[in-house]
Amino acid sequence: MARKIVVTSGKGGVGKTTVCCNLAVQLARRGFRVAVCDLDFGLNNVDVALGVEHLALYDVVDAVEGRCRPKQALVQHPLYPTLYCLASNRVSERYVSPQAVRLVLDAVSPQFDFILIDSPAGIEEGFHRAASCAEEALLVTTPHISAMRDADRVAGILKCYRFRSVGLAVNMVRRDFVRRGEILQPREISAALKLPLVAVVPEEDKLFLENVVGRSRAFCGLADYFTGGEGGERGADEGGFWGAMRRRHKKEGRA
Ligand SMILES: Nc1ncnc2c1ncn2[C@@H]1O[C@H](COP(=O)(O)OP(=O)(O)OP(=O)(O)O)[C@@H](O)[C@H]1O
Ligand SMILES: [Mg+2]
Repeated sequence: MARKIVVTSGKGGVGKTTVCCNLAVQLARRGFRVAVCDLDFGLNNVDVALGVEHLALYDVVDAVEGRCRPKQALVQHPLYPTLYCLASNRVSERYVSPQAVRLVLDAVSPQFDFILIDSPAGIEEGFHRAASCAEEALLVTTPHISAMRDADRVAGILKCYRFRSVGLAVNMVRRDFVRRGEILQPREISAALKLPLVAVVPEEDKLFLENVVGRSRAFCGLADYFTGGEGGERGADEGGFWGAMRRRHKKEGRA
């Protein structure tokens, strides 16, 4: 059965979908079987981020409502054969119960190692639906004060779910700002939120999926965190500032 990990945040636009899809690609590159499930109904864009929007015939709501079998809603990625997308559609007004989504995920779970669940921002119904389908959570924030405040609120709520693990990913970090003390250091954010820091993702000028896969080492470190470093491709760089941060995160994450 797959490990189900919800990727969530308090504030919108902090990079959940980006982190979720890039983590999925890194896991797939290591040979793990991964599905990314888009539970951000109405504002869905996992299929676009993965570049498979033209391939999806059915989505997760079709599977929930019986218009297709759960497996038929899975779209295989053309570049990474072990990566699949379980898209959602733009219809947000219908009620979809967490139990119904869980049944769909349970049906496809045996064919995957990981199911990554892209959650909507905030603490409304969509967040609870996504959270109640997972056993582990990854909270994404940026170093900006409004995002951190919302992350703090979500971190508190995540405790009620009794997840097996909750990790913190700090996204859009500018090293020059950190160096000048203009934003908090990721480890200070981690201490304030009382969550283990598992990824520090730098702000990139242009963030396209393939670019990030090629350029950002943060997602290799994140994949290491979830796999214990298992799999084909290891993070290329273990040196420098980010390498040192990653080694420390791994230690903290396991502590
Ligand atoms: N590290 C980064 N550097 C630069 N741009 C980034 C980074 N991470 C994400 N972005 C950009 O920020 C925007 C928001 O990212 P994304 O859609 O992943 O956020 P989200 O949390 O999923 O948003 P929503 O709450 O609307 O679902 C996108 O344009 C994305 O390309
Ligand atoms: Mg998103």
